[in-house]
Amino acid sequence: MKKLILIFLVFNFVGCTNNKYQEKISNSVRQKFQSKLKPLNKPNYYKIMGRIPTGSELELGRQLFSDTILSRNNDVSCATCHLSNHGFADGNTLNVGTMGKGGPNGDNVGHNFDTGKLSVDRSLGDDGMGFVGQHHMFRNSLSTINVVYRAAQGDDEGLFHDGRFGSIQFQVLLPIHTSEEMCGTNPLPIPAKHKNPFMEMGPIFKSPVKLTHAHSFNAVTGADTGKFNAQPIVVKGVPARRPNGSISVPTRNECLAIAIAKLRLIPKYQKMFKEVYNTSEITDKHLSMALSSFVMTHVSDNSPYDKFVRGENSLSLKQLRGLAMFFTPLGQKVTIDKEVISGTGCIGCHGPPHFGGNSYASLGVRSDHRSPLSRPVSTVSSRGGFFNRPRVQRGLVPTCHIKDVTVSGNYAPDIGRANGSFNEDDCFKFRVPPLRNVIETYPYFHHGTETAVGSTTKSLHQRSLQALKNVLLYHLRGPISIKNYARSNYLKPFFDEFYQTDLLIPYYKQQFTRDAVDVKKVFPMKISDSELNDLLEFVSYGLWDKQAVRNGSLGNDISHPEKVLSGFRPSITRDNGNQLELPSSARAP
Ligand code: HEC
Ligand code: HEC
Repeated sequence: MKKLILIFLVFNFVGCTNNKYQEKISNSVRQKFQSKLKPLNKPNYYKIMGRIPTGSELELGRQLFSDTILSRNNDVSCATCHLSNHGFADGNTLNVGTMGKGGPNGDNVGHNFDTGKLSVDRSLGDDGMGFVGQHHMFRNSLSTINVVYRAAQGDDEGLFHDGRFGSIQFQVLLPIHTSEEMCGTNPLPIPAKHKNPFMEMGPIFKSPVKLTHAHSFNAVTGADTGKFNAQPIVVKGVPARRPNGSISVPTRNECLAIAIAKLRLIPKYQKMFKEVYNTSEITDKHLSMALSSFVMTHVSDNSPYDKFVRGENSLSLKQLRGLAMFFTPLGQKVTIDKEVISGTGCIGCHGPPHFGGNSYASLGVRSDHRSPLSRPVSTVSSRGGFFNRPRVQRGLVPTCHIKDVTVSGNYAPDIGRANGSFNEDDCFKFRVPPLRNVIETYPYFHHGTETAVGSTTKSLHQRSLQALKNVLLYHLRGPISIKNYARSNYLKPFFDEFYQTDLLIPYYKQQFTRDAVDVKKVFPMKISDSELNDLLEFVSYGLWDKQAVRNGSLGNDISHPEKVLSGFRPSITRDNGNQLELPSSARAP
């Protein structure tokens, strides 16, 4: 007994001094970086949306977010690629959307159709005609967390890896009419044999659907309307055959119209839309309002960092040292309790309170060649939409790719920000990713190429840590000279031990710092293992708000529902949340 008490006392005493010591360091770090420790304010919904979403509006959004009814083949929902157990990203390198084949466990989503009353007869094959989509998404899924802070209404900048859109209200409709995501490239089923619910003015289109969010340009003439929403479009139905006799593959706007027409057929949705928006008819505008208000409640603002800024003693000693490194410019040192620590200059790009999301830089990260965007611009016509040929023809696509310099065979790096800005200075730059909850959004970089390859652990968390460590090492190595490049390598795995590097991105384009330093002298930066671990601790745990994927910022439920209003099985994930091991089929060859 005596012994126990003694142990207790000693333990308590040590704990106490530790706390005191930590408090001391905590205070001194807080003092040192006072001017840079920016707090994250609660989103001002009224200012952003002109209203504060109600509980029933957010519940409607929650249902729609997980409902496969929005995809043309009823197989994929937003939640397929934005999962709460992956920080609202998806754990894949490049996802596969509707009609998808592949995926982390090789699952063929096309086989998993439900037989709800709206689903097409699948007896002929995956899509009724034996077509199976295999399009990879063009980039790694981004998290929906904190998009609310980048949702300046009407602004044309800030969202996506290339920042090409700003309006979240419009953005939430894009996946529905993007072929790789929810629209698909499969034609309509043959009406002769099977009753076609998508026929012109057929049963699904009881009345025409008027879309207010029309696409930005006429795909045939290339005439640019200048703005999204510019031209309302009326879709009466989808003809089984086009005027030239070919079988219909629904266009982007038709896919959106089909989704609306399907929603109108579900009495439960009709009732709920009426309740929320007091409308007799569901429109794309209401759909956008419900989806966007829901994703705008995915907020991370209560991490240990935030508590620390508010004066709490919430960061561990390692995290405090990591913060000091993160907040100190490259080439400078900072002394914490007599310990001299190297600055790593992260703050120059990943600045608080968002730790990224508002600027662009080129780190020369290799693109995944399976992405439709990893192609020389001359072949870009193979996919439609935003990166479509008319823009190329009209000279709007900036010349980032130069034969023999940035093109190798059929591979050329994703041009990144230049897609959105059409400015050649932006070639190969990507949005600096916001780092809040980054530990949950494995894998990393614009095509998800940082996957902790070589790591043998099955734990997603351990893999995420390993991958993040590689990401940090990649940054600290700095730009590499094109001289070391063996061009024949381009199809090899994108890893040289720790780093993927795109040696097709010229050295002078690679921008690893914004500090006024001599890059050649600073990089590769040598820091000790314990310094690296401190930085990793801060990035992975110091910025982690665990509640962000559990509770919406307006007190709303943001979990994935067991059942959705359409009656379809909600598509939450294609592998039951076990996206731990990426089999070789899901990796770059
Ligand atoms: C097949 C996978 C897939 C589906 C389905 C999907 N997304 Fe995404 N989402 C992505 C990818 C990939 C990106 C990044 C695209 C880019 O940067 O070019 C993204 C980006 C986003 C973003 C922007 C985040 C940011 O920080 O800029 C939001 C918001 C979003 N998706 C919401 C949705 C909603 C709402 C739906 C359903 C209507 C949806 N997504 C369906 C894959 C998907
Ligand atoms: C010059 C600007 C710049 C600096 C300085 C910088 N980063 Fe980055 N960081 C980026 C860009 C750009 C990307 C995305 C690159 C891509 O996807 O191609 C990125 C990606 C990341 C990622 C991956 C996140 C994800 O979701 O994929 C992490 C983690 C990260 N940076 C942490 C850091 C840390 C820690 C430091 C300091 C050592 C740092 N960064 C310094 C620009 C910068």
